Amino acid sequence: MHPTMQKVARLAELAEDRGTRVKIGDTPIMLVREGDTVHAYTADCPHAGAPLEKGGICNGRIVCPWHKGTFEISDGSLVEPPALQGLTRYASLVDEGDVYVSPEPDESPPARPAADASTMFIAGAGAAGAAACAALREAGFNGRIVLAGTDAKIPYDRTALSKFVVAGDMPPDDVPPLLDPAFFSEQRIERIESQAVRLDAAKKQAELADGTIIDYEAALVCTGGIPKPMDVPRAPDARVLFLRNRDDAGAIVEALENSKAVIVGASFIGLEVASCLRKRKIDTVVVAPGKIPFATQFGERIGAMFKRLHEANGVSFRMGRNISAIERDAVILDDGERIAADVVIAGTGVKPATSFITGIPIADDGGIDVDARLCAAPGLYAAGDVARFPLPRSQTRLRIEHWRVAQQHARVAAYNMAGKRVEYEGVPYFWTYHFEKRFDYLGHVSDPDEVVIDGDLDAQKFIAYLMKDGEVGAVVACEREDATARLAEGMRATLTLDAARNLANG
Ligand SMILES: Cc1cc2nc3c(=O)[nH]c(=O)nc-3n(C[C@H](O)[C@H](O)[C@H](O)COP(=O)(O)OP(=O)(O)OC[C@H]3O[C@@H](n4cnc5c(N)ncnc54)[C@H](O)[C@@H]3O)c2cc1C
Ligand code: FES
Repeated sequence: MHPTMQKVARLAELAEDRGTRVKIGDTPIMLVREGDTVHAYTADCPHAGAPLEKGGICNGRIVCPWHKGTFEISDGSLVEPPALQGLTRYASLVDEGDVYVSPEPDESPPARPAADASTMFIAGAGAAGAAACAALREAGFNGRIVLAGTDAKIPYDRTALSKFVVAGDMPPDDVPPLLDPAFFSEQRIERIESQAVRLDAAKKQAELADGTIIDYEAALVCTGGIPKPMDVPRAPDARVLFLRNRDDAGAIVEALENSKAVIVGASFIGLEVASCLRKRKIDTVVVAPGKIPFATQFGERIGAMFKRLHEANGVSFRMGRNISAIERDAVILDDGERIAADVVIAGTGVKPATSFITGIPIADDGGIDVDARLCAAPGLYAAGDVARFPLPRSQTRLRIEHWRVAQQHARVAAYNMAGKRVEYEGVPYFWTYHFEKRFDYLGHVSDPDEVVIDGDLDAQKFIAYLMKDGEVGAVVACEREDATARLAEGMRATLTLDAARNLANG
């Protein structure tokens, strides 16, 4: 045994179905038991610091409670984002029933891949772009990587904008970066802050707005979406704002002082913004065409709970209504109602930013059709909000606008670009945040046949199974982080209601 190793626990005290947090000095360590072996890793998730022992253990993997970043138990390597790196590992051993862990991380140098003269081009420096940079190196690609993006010197966490920035809890410049700025220089990633204005799939060539021409072996298009404009008459001095990037969030924060706001669209982003505005005591009205928010995704009972939660916190709704005009200080609805508004925030969806691409067909919705390897054409891949991809076990393609899905795509695409053969086998996941409550959504289903709810919906402490054709198509939950962590792995297989409940209940 190494002389500096310290005794941290008794083997008999460690459960196998969850991690156990211990400390060596100030360092938090998570112990994970597999039979008579114990693995020791950093206990705080490398993504945003969640306590990993509160997550799940499933399929030989550790799943983070907050955003379901996933790691192999055997070596801590990364399996699923939004973490973009594996867990720091500490040497450990069991001796006469006592568990010993080294206080120093195990830092064996990574294998040095062979030199490579090829160029990988990534258009879009957002969720997928950052994940692709990390995954290309992780997959052993050692050549040139060019990352072109219009929006950021360093890719940042867009999801914080509608949760913390608009609420005034986080200045726009403090939004966390997705990768340590040093990563880009250490890993020789060429970042160019310029828009891709042309990508010729047949010639394998891209051109940037600053005139740079890039000839590539493989390219990844992950340019996300552009907010859809609102097609209604509006006064020239009406303030209509969108929320897609850090500048937009800053503009909303500035415009909102002592204002009345109307949010158009009861989308996740629209209602997250409503939650932020009420935190700032701003009069907030949501106008949307449907009957109940999120009814298509979650079913009517859960959608109605979201509406009640918002109403209890002072948000007014005009459901079943459209905007017919926007004046300087009001919006006019299609039934003639006039609602005072200094600021209108449009949460009316996005269109994929793909107009610069030639040589492949672009779908009617602006998306790019890809196969399970995220490949659109020889040497061309697409990921994230632009990609129309097949879910496992499904014949049809769809676009899913979720952060973790964009990064899952990017990892699959990057491995294929680096010469491996991997397919998308992930479970879609997103989280949304309203009035200090985080809701998890796993899987994908629209218009569920039945919604089975365990727990107390109105106390926002529940897990709901969205059933389709006798199977669990999706799960929505609040304050059941360990259950959704296990299901994030378990739902890779088809689950009956009983099987899903067993997994959720540990
Ligand atoms: C405010 C907000 C909050 C959100 N919250 C959540 C959440 O809580 N959970 C969740 O799952 N999802 C959330 N989403 C959705 C999630 O952010 C997206 O699904 C995800 O960012 C998609 O990743 P992407 O890489 O495809 O695109 P993006 O992250 O949008 O990145 C695309 C990048 O490409 C750039 N670009 C566009 N055109 C070009 C071009 N021609 N050349 C170069 N660069 C270009 C864009 O400026 C952008 O920086 C949120 C979205 C927003 C806007
Ligand atoms: S904190 Fe672990 S995945 Fe986000």
